Amino acid sequence: MSLPTPDTAHLRRPEYASVYEPAEDTFLLLDALESDRVELQALRPTVCVEIGSGSGCVSAFLGQVLDPHPALIISTDINPAANAATQETAARCTTPIALLEQCCTRFVQALDTRLAGKVDVLVFNPPYVVTPTEEIDSTPEASAWAGGRDGREVLDQLLPQIPALLSPAGRFYLVVIEQNNPDEVAQILAEHGLLGTRVLSRMAGREHLSILRFTRKHAE
Ligand SMILES: C[S@@+](CC[C@H](N)C(=O)[O-])C[C@H]1O[C@@H](n2cnc3c(N)ncnc32)[C@H](O)[C@@H]1O
Repeated sequence: MSLPTPDTAHLRRPEYASVYEPAEDTFLLLDALESDRVELQALRPTVCVEIGSGSGCVSAFLGQVLDPHPALIISTDINPAANAATQETAARCTTPIALLEQCCTRFVQALDTRLAGKVDVLVFNPPYVVTPTEEIDSTPEASAWAGGRDGREVLDQLLPQIPALLSPAGRFYLVVIEQNNPDEVAQILAEHGLLGTRVLSRMAGREHLSILRFTRKHAE
C-alpha cells in the first residue's frame, strides 16, 4: 500500500514563489524512500537529516516511512521561507515524528561537528540544473535549482563532508540528473569509502532523473 504524500495544502502560489514546489524529482525521491521502507525501518534510525528541505514534503514523508519507529529528523535549508514551510508541513503531519527540527544553514554547517558519525539517513535533492555559476544562490528561487557547471557546483561542496557525517550503517539518498554525471559522483564518494547504487530512474520531461543511494563499503 502506498504511503500518502504529506499535506502541503498550506503552501500556495505566494509561498511557491520562494519555496520549491514538490515536483517529479521530489516524488521520485519519495518513491525511493518508500521502496526501501523495510530496510530503513530495520536500520532503526535515530538521526535523519534532510539538506535543502524546501516544502518539507520529503522530511515529513521520511517520518511516515519510519513509522512506527519515530526518529529525530533534522531539516536544513538556506532559505528561511523553506524552513517555515517545512515547520508547518511537519505540524500538519498525522504520523508521529519524534521531532522534526529546523535549521537555517548551508548544508549542515551549523551542526556538522555535533552530527559527525551520527547520521543514519541523509537525504539531498540539490539544485542540480546546469546553469552559469553566477546564478547559484542569486535569489532564493535560484537556490532551489541553479547548480552551476554540470549542475554539480553546490553538490560538490557537500560530497567530501558526507563520509564523516554518516553513522557506520548510515545511508545517503541523492537526486541527480544525467548532466550531473552520476558515475563521477559515485567515483568521488567511492574514493571516500562509499558504495553507490542507482535505485530508481525516471524521465520527467527532458530530465532523466535518478536516485543514488550510498552506504559504507563495509557497512556494519
Ligand atoms: C530542488 S530543491 C528540493 C526541495 C525539497 N527537498 C524537495 O525535494 O522538493 C533544493 C532545496 O535546497 C535548498 N538549498 C540550496 N542550496 C543549499 C545549501 N547549500 N544548503 C542547504 N540548502 C540548500 C534550496 O533552498 C531548496 O529548498
